[in-house]
Amino acid sequence: MKSDQIAIIGLGYVGLPLAHAFSSKYKVIGLDINPDRVNELKSGFDRTLELSETQVNECLENGLEFTTNIEDAKDCNIYIVTVPTPINSENEPDLTPLIKSSQSIGTVLKKDDIVIYESTVYPGATEEICVPELEKFSGLEFNKDFFCGYSPERINPGDKEHTVTKILKVTSGSTSETAKKVDELYKSIITAGTHLAPSIKVAEAAKVIENTQRDVNIALINELSMIFDKLGIDTNSVIEAAGTKWNFIKLTPGLVGGHCIGVDPYYLTFKAQSIGYTPNLILGARQINNSMSKLIADKTIKYMVKADKKLNGANILVMGATFKENCPDMRNSKVLDIIKELEEFECKVDVYDYWIDKSDRESKGLNFIEELPFESKKYDAIIVAVGHDKFKEITEEQYTNMSKGEPIVIDVKGIVKKPTWRL
Ligand SMILES: NC(=O)c1ccc[n+]([C@@H]2O[C@H](COP(=O)([O-])OP(=O)(O)OC[C@H]3O[C@@H](n4cnc5c(N)ncnc54)[C@H](O)[C@@H]3O)[C@@H](O)[C@H]2O)c1
Repeated sequence: MKSDQIAIIGLGYVGLPLAHAFSSKYKVIGLDINPDRVNELKSGFDRTLELSETQVNECLENGLEFTTNIEDAKDCNIYIVTVPTPINSENEPDLTPLIKSSQSIGTVLKKDDIVIYESTVYPGATEEICVPELEKFSGLEFNKDFFCGYSPERINPGDKEHTVTKILKVTSGSTSETAKKVDELYKSIITAGTHLAPSIKVAEAAKVIENTQRDVNIALINELSMIFDKLGIDTNSVIEAAGTKWNFIKLTPGLVGGHCIGVDPYYLTFKAQSIGYTPNLILGARQINNSMSKLIADKTIKYMVKADKKLNGANILVMGATFKENCPDMRNSKVLDIIKELEEFECKVDVYDYWIDKSDRESKGLNFIEELPFESKKYDAIIVAVGHDKFKEITEEQYTNMSKGEPIVIDVKGIVKKPTWRL
């Protein structure tokens, strides 16, 4: 065991795999404010499915302690913050979890400790928002008594190939000595290596632009798909053809939900606007991506009307409710917006998603069904909203046998062989 003792604050998609990785070499305390989360981890279960039961048990065998009490982390000298950074209803950063966790760390912070933030923020947030809280609650002085680092996380929920230790990690520190220490700390567990950025602000900005770039690129493809739809050209065939050029960025149209890509650009636009710059391209991209749910609902309604189907009381099946394929994460899923839109027309929507845990289903107020009713002849329209692997195996005949009258199959992810309409 190495001599540093590490506390990971926030045991979600990011914090838990990180705690697991560090626990193989360090004494680790894993802290979360949610007692249910701590209890389930103590029992060996991770509802995010990022860690298997064996891996959660490895944490416990390695001596990792799961707790809700910051006092249990008072002997640590390194605190790593992996709490959520959501947006509020105005699409502005909600920094409450970052502020609260910094205050809590402040109560146990000691001389020479290092606090490393991993949560995605705008450039400047660590030093402008978090550090003052650490100082206030510890009575210590920044860069004299204690130090900070920032090392953004790049994992991708549900991705079992690019796991935390296999992704090159950007590191940074509030002094050159701290930066070196932070970099060495991550080097000790990240097999893919590290990139030491020249400052905390650079590392913060690097993370937020990774996701902003992706959001803007997807928005472009979404906009193109709307143009091609009006022109009667199949977008996927256009992308296939354009993708033969070496520098074409091959993305497909789709919904942009989740905790990262649909959220992080707003952190950057908030900061830009606070200094008097209006980021039209980034905000325009957000608007386009947010409009895709309505487009899909509108198309479904259009094809139902064309087929003379009655909207009021129509049965619609939505396959997939997570924000992306092959994971149980429903945060900011835009599929929920499609459902809301259809319910405005008094349609009855059944939702099938084998990835979502029963307890999570109940909280959403949706009509989840346990199995796909293959012979039911029930549905006036079917929306294949998420590209889960099992959905790729469903045959044309099975779609037909689930449909009432003329099958209407709306394919959001390009996985249905003969859809009525494809995004
Ligand atoms: N999910 C991803 O794949 C991903 C990838 C890269 C970066 N990020 C960023 O990492 C950060 C964490 O994301 P996540 O997906 O792990 O979130 P999450 O919601 O899965 O987990 C966060 C955990 O923090 C806990 N928490 C909240 N406030 C706390 C507090 N004050 N003290 C202690 N625990 C607290 C919550 O109970 C929750 O269990 C965010 O900034 C996110 O943008 C996420």
